[in-house]
Amino acid sequence: MAEKRKSIHGIWSGRLAFILAATGSAVGLGNIWKFPYIAGENGGGAFVLVYLLCIAVIGIPIMMAEVMLGRRGRRSPVNTMHALAAEAGASRHWHWLGWAGMLAGFLILSYYSVIAGWALAYIFRSAGGVFTGATAEGVSAIFDRLVGDPERLISWHTLFMVMTMLVVARGVRSGLEQAVRYLVPALFVLLLILDGYALASGAFNQGLAFLFTPDFSKISANGVLIAMGHAFFTLSLGMGAIMVYGSYLPDRTSIARTSVTIALLDTLVALLAGMAIFPIVFVNGLDPGEGAGLIFKTLPIAFGHMPGGALFGTLFFVLLVFAAWTSSISLIEPAVAWLVENRGMTRVQASVLAGVITWLVGMLTVFSFNSWADFHPLFFVPHFEQATVFDLLDYLTANVMLPLGGLAIALFSVWIMQRNDSVEELDMGDGAAYRLWHFLVRYVTPVAVIIVFLNVTRLVDFGSLLGLAE
Ligand code: PFF
Repeated sequence: MAEKRKSIHGIWSGRLAFILAATGSAVGLGNIWKFPYIAGENGGGAFVLVYLLCIAVIGIPIMMAEVMLGRRGRRSPVNTMHALAAEAGASRHWHWLGWAGMLAGFLILSYYSVIAGWALAYIFRSAGGVFTGATAEGVSAIFDRLVGDPERLISWHTLFMVMTMLVVARGVRSGLEQAVRYLVPALFVLLLILDGYALASGAFNQGLAFLFTPDFSKISANGVLIAMGHAFFTLSLGMGAIMVYGSYLPDRTSIARTSVTIALLDTLVALLAGMAIFPIVFVNGLDPGEGAGLIFKTLPIAFGHMPGGALFGTLFFVLLVFAAWTSSISLIEPAVAWLVENRGMTRVQASVLAGVITWLVGMLTVFSFNSWADFHPLFFVPHFEQATVFDLLDYLTANVMLPLGGLAIALFSVWIMQRNDSVEELDMGDGAAYRLWHFLVRYVTPVAVIIVFLNVTRLVDFGSLLGLAE
């Protein structure tokens, strides 16, 4: 057996700490803000089914692969890929995978932070009782006023980036680990309270039917790509976040069990969020395809009408910010780890540098909702005529960069890395479970990702073969 590498950044205190940190990374705006609105835009049930399938057959196996590579390399994704490629006698170009991941992390965090800023703003609006008794129109107007004002968006975005840099600067144990220990469980409780409200709203069944009755005529080939992209996004896969967290994982922890646990928790949060939101959408006659503002236009109505709503609303947005916070730190950690390893920076310097760059790129998103709202860079490309810069950033990262990153991780793990090494690192023997993983990562994942891409670029029209919507 090869000599085990050691992480210079420290390691998690144990399996639970890793589960919490990785769940903290996975559970975020993707589950509560993004999942409901893209499910709404893509017709509901069929989209949800495709998404669940992607989590099971692509997400979990790739998560195992990504954690495995991280733990074996014990460094930032760039250096991990470098070391593992050398170990396998493969091209050193594999380290580009780490670079691509770092770029994706910057781009995602740049808009993620702006959206997290909305949640920050909503903490204060809820606490101030602004939503009490508010109508659907009133709540929409409050949202439009917020996103229409670049100065406010910049202020909240700045605050959120500072929060992110503070935690990242403190390092693995004292920063990241402490932050997630209480926040992840608290979020579950709050979501359950919201589901209780939705249950009593009178449209719970309609909400459930929307989410869970698949109607394949409502999902397009592009919708399938969005569902798959979201499986990567929501599990934080394909860009090195889970790889870098894996590099802090103690040696004997079971990667398979841990990955399944994280994926289940993550999916549960998304479904709980959907089940809370859609009944409120229907009872208020709102449009499920409302877009990125969906939760900000729906949940405040619920808070405005339930007893103790100001308190619950405030708590909810506090937790949403925390969920976003524990994800944002993982988006920037690959870059920070690399700066520390290769540029000799302290964690503080590295966090500030990476944070400032992300903050600047965030301006693209800030202005997408106001000054540049009518700027549609790809107005000549079908499907993207109306897309703002923010829409394009989101699409490029979640639906292109992450699936491609995931594909590369899959290919490396089973075609490049020695089988013995993956058996050793996954540490679950060479039995049925290992073989199932190997099969999924070797064949199913690459084929699925490639089919979806070919189909979207219309080189092959599986969509119409399967009777999917145009
Ligand atoms: N998984 C996070 C969410 O669902 O909000 C977002 C995210 C974090 C994506 C980290 C990618 C990543 F590497």
